[in-house]
Amino acid sequence: MATIAEQITKNQYFEPGPVAVESKNYTYDRWMDSVGIPIHRGFFIEDLRTVELGWWDERQCNAAFIQLMGQEGITSATVMEIPPGKTLPPVKFALDEVIYVLQGRGVTTVWTDDRGPKKTFEWQDRSLFEISSNCYQQLGNMRGDRPARVLRYSYLPLATSLITEPGFYFNNPYQKPDSANEGDTYSEAKLVENGDPALAWGGKRVFWFGNFFPDMAAWDKLSTNRRGGMSVTIMFPNSEMSCHMSVFPDRTYKKAHRHGPGRVIVIPAGEGYSILWEEGKEKIVAPWHEGSMFVPPNKWFHQHFNVGAIPARYLALHPPRQFRGHAEKIEDRAKDMIEYIDEDPWVRHRRSLQSRELRLASKEIAGERRARVCAATKNTNEGRAKSPPFFLCQSTWPRALGRALSAQALNESRLRESHAVGANEAESLWLALTIHVIEIIDEFIGSPVWTATMKSDTGKSL
Ligand SMILES: [Fe+2]
Repeated sequence: MATIAEQITKNQYFEPGPVAVESKNYTYDRWMDSVGIPIHRGFFIEDLRTVELGWWDERQCNAAFIQLMGQEGITSATVMEIPPGKTLPPVKFALDEVIYVLQGRGVTTVWTDDRGPKKTFEWQDRSLFEISSNCYQQLGNMRGDRPARVLRYSYLPLATSLITEPGFYFNNPYQKPDSANEGDTYSEAKLVENGDPALAWGGKRVFWFGNFFPDMAAWDKLSTNRRGGMSVTIMFPNSEMSCHMSVFPDRTYKKAHRHGPGRVIVIPAGEGYSILWEEGKEKIVAPWHEGSMFVPPNKWFHQHFNVGAIPARYLALHPPRQFRGHAEKIEDRAKDMIEYIDEDPWVRHRRSLQSRELRLASKEIAGERRARVCAATKNTNEGRAKSPPFFLCQSTWPRALGRALSAQALNESRLRESHAVGANEAESLWLALTIHVIEIIDEFIGSPVWTATMKSDTGKSL
């Protein structure tokens, strides 16, 4: 049976067409070329755990650079593989660095020149940790039977546009005056509930503060966010680096949005795809699962679809806050978020290709609105068992009504009960009706009164 990724990449919509990729050449690009290991470009890497690597003699390991279009010379991503049972040579790196464990079990030792004790901590699949600038760091593989892979993330491309000598950043003898205490924070992360919004990513007051997180697929200390999912924001001590992880339920999708460049997204868990597009241009479909990586380019819309059976998690490693995107003047913030009802029909058609149910994930159908919608559709629902459904709806808010009709009133079990059809047929009818309802709402959008008769794609009256 074809995997989700295979289904996506073989469908007719996968071909992105002529998408113009602007090619830039920064000091960092020239340095990558000089190292001689593979450089992977494009829009996404389906699996960092299997991406091609090459021998990097100075680091004594196989490695590859990932420089996708959206990184745009701001952020770096390097995959390194530590051979079984081996420890890599120590490196002193001049910048803060975030490391995400793609696969394996290992140990990291961190120390500064002669002051302070060495700190050692263990990591495993999907661990996330941050190493402060100007520290020595040494990574080792604890397993003797298989390699370990890590993804290293930093702002080196941006830094090398300022001081254009890459050697400045490796094994530089500079020592921070307060470095003796570095490493004290490789312990349990702490919840900050009233943080300084001027310092935190996105002006958040609530975030997790620490530099070691044992397993991002298991991290369950989450809070709700404005796009209808759960998320956690992570700030690293003594650093302007940060990240967040968003979690959204199985078989749901999120609203399209856009922002600044440089955010490297890796997937700790889940299965689905994301669509990336520049306004008015062709779309890129990026299939993902654990170990995938993609980067939305600057001001490109992107939308995430979870088609798997478990909640999906994406971990976004943030660029410098200067590139967050909101520093630009935005005349209308609503333009940076596409409501479900305003989606391009291509998105819905694309979605209908999936053989699985996709529920609308909007939180807006909950609570008071849900109750009001139920009351508005009560009469028609009561009459459905014996006669074809005939939706006569009067509403000043047809968008909310549309969501409710598709996500609630037309659910699979109700169809099965009222029309005595099998589970598979009910599911396909549900999908057809969901799309049909949205299309009708599209047609009648803006009209306070509209009438519609529902029929399935097979012509069967419902
Ligand atoms: Fe985003």
